[in-house]
Amino acid sequence: MKQIFVTGGAGFIGSAFIRLVLDETSDTQIINYDALTYAGNLENLEGVDSKRHTFIKGDICDKDSVLNSIPDNCDAIFNFAAESHVDRSIESANEFVNTNVLGTQILLDAAREKNVRRFVQISTDEVMGSLPESDEAFFTEDSPLEPNSPYAASKAAAEHFVRAARETFGLETIITRCGNNYGSRQFPEKLIPLMVSNAMNDEPLPVYGDGKNVRDWVYVDDHCRGIWLSFEKGKSGEAYNIGARNELQNIEVVKSILDILGKPHSLIKYVKDRLGHDRRYAIDSTKVEKELDWKPKVSWEEGLQATINWYQENVDWVDHIRNGEYKEYYKKHYGMEVGAK
Ligand code: NAD
Ligand code: TYD
Repeated sequence: MKQIFVTGGAGFIGSAFIRLVLDETSDTQIINYDALTYAGNLENLEGVDSKRHTFIKGDICDKDSVLNSIPDNCDAIFNFAAESHVDRSIESANEFVNTNVLGTQILLDAAREKNVRRFVQISTDEVMGSLPESDEAFFTEDSPLEPNSPYAASKAAAEHFVRAARETFGLETIITRCGNNYGSRQFPEKLIPLMVSNAMNDEPLPVYGDGKNVRDWVYVDDHCRGIWLSFEKGKSGEAYNIGARNELQNIEVVKSILDILGKPHSLIKYVKDRLGHDRRYAIDSTKVEKELDWKPKVSWEEGLQATINWYQENVDWVDHIRNGEYKEYYKKHYGMEVGAK
C-alpha cells in the first residue's frame, strides 16, 4: 500500500483529488489533514471509501500536530491546504501568509523529519502574474514569478520555500501550476459557482470591471489527474503548468451559465473592478503533454453542463454554505444581500 498525506482534502480540489485517487488506484491509503476553515467541508467527502481514507482535523501551521499525523513510510505529501480566494486576500493578507507560506514551510520541515519520499506543492498559474490581452503570449515553466495579488504573492513565496528545501536539503519536490478550476463542490465565492448559485436564485450576477478578463478554465478532475501524473512520472525539482487551452472572457462564462439555466442576461450586474485585477491567464501546457502524457479529458461544454447539473442537484450543499459567515462576507464585499432566505 502507498501511504499519502493530503492537506486541504476537505476543500474543492483536494476532495476531488481524493475521490480520483481512490477510484483510479487500488493500493493507496490516504490521510486527509484539513483545518476545516470556512472553505473546508466534510460534506465534500460523503461517500468516500472509509477503509482507505482517514480524516484528521488539523492546521498545517501546527507543527506537532502535523508531525503526529504524517504516517510512517509516507510516499508523498500533496499540499492543497491554502487560503485560496483573491478577493479575501485583498481584504486581509495575514491568513494567506500564515497558511500559504508558513504552513508550507512547516510541512516541508516535517517531510524531511519523517523521510517523506516526495513533496507535491499545488501552486497556481497566478504566481506568474498577468499576460497581455494579445493571444500570442502564454505562461511557460520558464516564465518569471511576478505575482500581483496578495494571494498570488503568498503562493509564489511558498514555491520559493519548496525550491529551497530541495536545493538545501535534497527533499524531492514537484510543483504544479494549474489554471482556474471548475467543477462540483467549489465554494460559491469563486466565479462559476457564485454565478450558478445566484442565477439559480434569480439574484444579480456581479461581473467585475468590463467582464473581459480572461481565464484558462480546467475541469477539476483533469487537474487532479495532472497532479497524480506529476507525482508518479514527474522529475524532482520541476514545475509543471497544467492548462486546458480553454481561454474565455468572464462575460462569456457568465452568459453561458445563464443560457444553460434558461435565465435572462438582465441578471448580469457590472460592478466595481477588483483592485489589481489580472487581465489574462493562459498556459502553454506543452511540457505536461509531452513529459507526462497529460491532456484534458473533459471539454468545456461537457464540464460546464456537469457542474451546473451538480449544483442543481445539490441545493442543500449550496444552502448550507450561503448562510451565516457567507452572507456577511457577501454583503461586505459586494454591498448586496444574498443567500438562503
Ligand atoms: P479551497 O479554498 O476550496 O480549499 C482549501 C482547503 O484547505 C479547505 O478545505 C480548508 O479547510 C483547508 N485549509 C485552509 N487553511 C488550512 C490550514 N491552515 N491547515 C489545514 N487546512 C487548511 O481551495 P481549492 O480551490 O480547493 O484550492 C486547493 C489548492 O489548489 C490551493 O492550494 C490553491 O492555491 C490551488 N489552486 C487552486 C485553483 C483554483 O482554481 N481553485 C487553481 C490552481 C491552484
Ligand atoms: P475567481 O473565481 O475569484 O478566480 P481568480 O481570481 O483566482 O482567477 O475569479 C475569476 C474571474 O472572475 C476573475 O477575473 C474575477 C472575476 N469575478 C467576477 O467578475 N465577479 C465575481 O464576483 C468574482 C468572484 C470573480
